[in-house]
Amino acid sequence: MCGIVGVVSERNAVPILMEGLRRLEYRGYDSAGLAVLNADHVLARLRTVGKVKILQDAIDAAPIAGAVGVAHTRWATHGVPTKRNAHPHVSRDGIAIVHNGIIENHDALRTDLAALGYSFTSETDTEVVAHRIHHHLATSADLFEAVRRTVAELQGAYALAVLSERDPDCIVVARVGCPVVIGLGIDENFVASDVAALLPVTRRFMFLEEGDVAEIRRKSIKIVDAAGKSAARIARDSDLAADAVERGQYRHFMLKEIHEQPRAIAQTLEERVAGGKLLDAAFGPSAQRVFKKVKAVHIAACGTSYHAAIVASYLIEQICRIPARVEIASEYRYRNPVVTPDTLFVTISQSGETADTLAALRNAQQAGYLSTLAICNVAESSMVRDSELVLLTRAGPEIGVASTKAFTTQLTALGMLIVALAKHRLLDAEQERALISQLLQLPRLVDETLKLDATIQTLAEAFADKRHALFLGRGPLYAIALEGALKLKEISYIHAEGYAAAELKHGPLALVDEDMPVVAVAPNNELLEKLKSNLQEVRARGGNLFVFADPATGMQSADGVTVIQMPAQVSALQAPIIYTVPLQLLAYHVAVLKGTDVDQPRNLAKSLTVE
Ligand code: M6R
Repeated sequence: MCGIVGVVSERNAVPILMEGLRRLEYRGYDSAGLAVLNADHVLARLRTVGKVKILQDAIDAAPIAGAVGVAHTRWATHGVPTKRNAHPHVSRDGIAIVHNGIIENHDALRTDLAALGYSFTSETDTEVVAHRIHHHLATSADLFEAVRRTVAELQGAYALAVLSERDPDCIVVARVGCPVVIGLGIDENFVASDVAALLPVTRRFMFLEEGDVAEIRRKSIKIVDAAGKSAARIARDSDLAADAVERGQYRHFMLKEIHEQPRAIAQTLEERVAGGKLLDAAFGPSAQRVFKKVKAVHIAACGTSYHAAIVASYLIEQICRIPARVEIASEYRYRNPVVTPDTLFVTISQSGETADTLAALRNAQQAGYLSTLAICNVAESSMVRDSELVLLTRAGPEIGVASTKAFTTQLTALGMLIVALAKHRLLDAEQERALISQLLQLPRLVDETLKLDATIQTLAEAFADKRHALFLGRGPLYAIALEGALKLKEISYIHAEGYAAAELKHGPLALVDEDMPVVAVAPNNELLEKLKSNLQEVRARGGNLFVFADPATGMQSADGVTVIQMPAQVSALQAPIIYTVPLQLLAYHVAVLKGTDVDQPRNLAKSLTVE
């Protein structure tokens, strides 16, 4: 997803803007650019297609400098990735703008502007906003007023940062539906799409709220809220280490994040379970009142977070005996769901900004739910702010586009939710203690599972030249098969599908031959014998099987069957997390063998703040 950085300083803003862009690379982008006001307050702009490194090379070849500037990484929505569609976009009289999001009424605004004599050099919705600001600036007191008049005309979602030769000491920013953070410095201030971009220059941040427009100067910040009233936003210190978004000794962020999972899971459990008990208050002050009443659960999420939701729906019904329904957020948002009394609505999201999940939450707020709960990795996100109950996963920043530690910490948080719901209806203290103990074993179990890395690296060779792969699981592990397939396809570009193992014979079995590797996850549970039969069906058609199996299953490698013994027997609550780890490693090593861009796979973005 696009990334924004802005600087209002006395020193040269270009190195800060470029470091900010590098730190936003993980969001996914296809072009980059920046604009600064130089010492004579004249606008200079540079844009390139491809990586931030290419923009840096262009700056090195033809240096530009200025103390006020904005920069951008673009993930194409309107118009293909070309230099002329890259941001910043400019209008007359030295106005430059960077924009995340989508302006839905850009066509109508473009027609009006054309009638006013403006011409366009790009296919973007953003250029329309630049001209609109120019149009209003002619009759406004300053840039701030012109931007406010412009955003009042916009429909859609946006984060904007604007500068102008006419008002050269400030940047004006606005947000609706896309995050904007203001970084506070000493006699200098900054803006960005997220905190990570600004950590080398400040640790103190202010978060804009929906509808805010702000004027950022070196020594002052003026904010007006959605109702047009002057507003104050609380400044907070970030506890993120500056190197939290660095790769360290690892070749890729994804590998680093896979290996961070034991710590991330431990942190997610910390202070929330004590003395064999789950602390309801971890979900918020009203959690206990809500959990006592819950009679059904609806969950909405996207992508990997949706897979976590499927796991939860199985386990909530199995362990809590509460009906649980799960839905892809982009579908849910356009439905008119039947909400029975005392239903809890849950969203799951790494970023807390995914447009479809956020829209699902906003619809749910009008639909008569008992309460809303966000399971999220970003404390300052819109989803967290808009939910009554919150359980933060503490995965730390996840930079690789392919979600790994965010997923396993979501499953850990959902494990806590399951205990919280179950204890109010059917668990006695001893049963609660047993489930908590299973959660507390997770960091050690994940750590042991990571020791399979070398084995899986070798296994990856059997996949690197394949064009397709299938992943099979049963029960909650069906969702882990889906997740394994998603990981493989998104970073290695091998077509992969996940199936509930028994579903294979209803069609996909026709695909199976010696060129189709089939991966299965086989914990030792009540479905094991059923799963073994499903695997026999694959083997009988010449399919090559790769089975991650519980040591107690007794499964052994044989002709066309490779069995990888998992390190320990695990419970129903633990299995989805533990069996995810080898599938993450498999996808990673296949992608490395294929030489793809592991951390920033083609066409993908980290946080999808557009619909
Ligand atoms: O930030 P979210 O969890 O809401 O993001 C949802 C999906 O875009 C995300 O899980 C995506 O599927 C993963 N990055 C894939 O690995």
